[in-house]
Amino acid sequence: MGDASEIYPLARDSTESSRLNEQHNFIVQAVDGLFDSSLPLENISAVADVGTGTGIWLLQARDFLDSKFPGTEENRTFHGFDISSEQFPQSTPDNVSFSLHNVLKPFPPEYHGKYDLVYVRLLVAAVPESEYEIAVRNLVEILKPGGYIQWTDINSAFLSSPTNDNLTDPRCSFFVSTWLDFLKTQSLAIDAPASLAESFKRVGLSDVRNIGYAQHDRGERFKIRAQKWQAQSLEAVVRRLVSRNGEADVKRNINEEIKNLWEYFGEDGGRVLALRLGVVVGRKAA
Ligand SMILES: C[S@@+](CC[C@H](N)C(=O)[O-])C[C@H]1O[C@@H](n2cnc3c(N)ncnc32)[C@H](O)[C@@H]1O
Repeated sequence: MGDASEIYPLARDSTESSRLNEQHNFIVQAVDGLFDSSLPLENISAVADVGTGTGIWLLQARDFLDSKFPGTEENRTFHGFDISSEQFPQSTPDNVSFSLHNVLKPFPPEYHGKYDLVYVRLLVAAVPESEYEIAVRNLVEILKPGGYIQWTDINSAFLSSPTNDNLTDPRCSFFVSTWLDFLKTQSLAIDAPASLAESFKRVGLSDVRNIGYAQHDRGERFKIRAQKWQAQSLEAVVRRLVSRNGEADVKRNINEEIKNLWEYFGEDGGRVLALRLGVVVGRKAA
């Protein structure tokens, strides 16, 4: 098993925490809400968020369920897990806790069979595709019988499609090809949602669905948010990859490249890359 913490390319400083929180707001809009519409929210009392980062989804999920089902707040608990505690919130409400845990290791027995919903988002740059099944098995172990997993991740497959300019426009091609090379060299998934859906089925989850969310054709206001998210994400990942592995001249030119990237998104009302998000849901046997 590879060391997942070494593959993960992003920083864990306050700038990156702010980016993750801003990204959260965009993704919630992009995938139509905090929860997949198939989940029976009224039955959810114990929630785990694995690879929680700043815990932003978990905290908002708590507020959402509290306001949807008033008077039942005390029945619910929320637990965030992450391989690093660096971005955990400083203070948390009573029914929210955070623990260190690597999703590629079995959870301690105290968590087994405990959760109605296990939520995961954006581990595509941290967990090699060949280890999805290990991760999913570990997550299934902490679900109650009949509980659900919802895992939202990125599908980069359309980025290399010959029908768009993602790899030919010089202002963004460096970023897109660096991202695709990174996925390939680290054995990360090009289409993470599809691969996850296969793992869900292989470990015996039922009612598996993989809903794809594109980012074009969704109106002007959405486009502006998508452009900003794409530019910020590519900038954050590629800046770190270049500082980790880049040649000296690439390191020297990175600020210029980033200026070009933002221009690409801004020109002519701007473009949106063919990046997609997928929400994958499955259910443990009751
Ligand atoms: C891109 S961030 C996403 C954070 C959060 N899920 C969100 O969507 O805002 C990925 C998170 O996964 C964590 N992570 C990376 N490898 C992990 C692993 N093997 N087990 C658990 N968490 C991991 C990172 O520390 C980071 O907080």
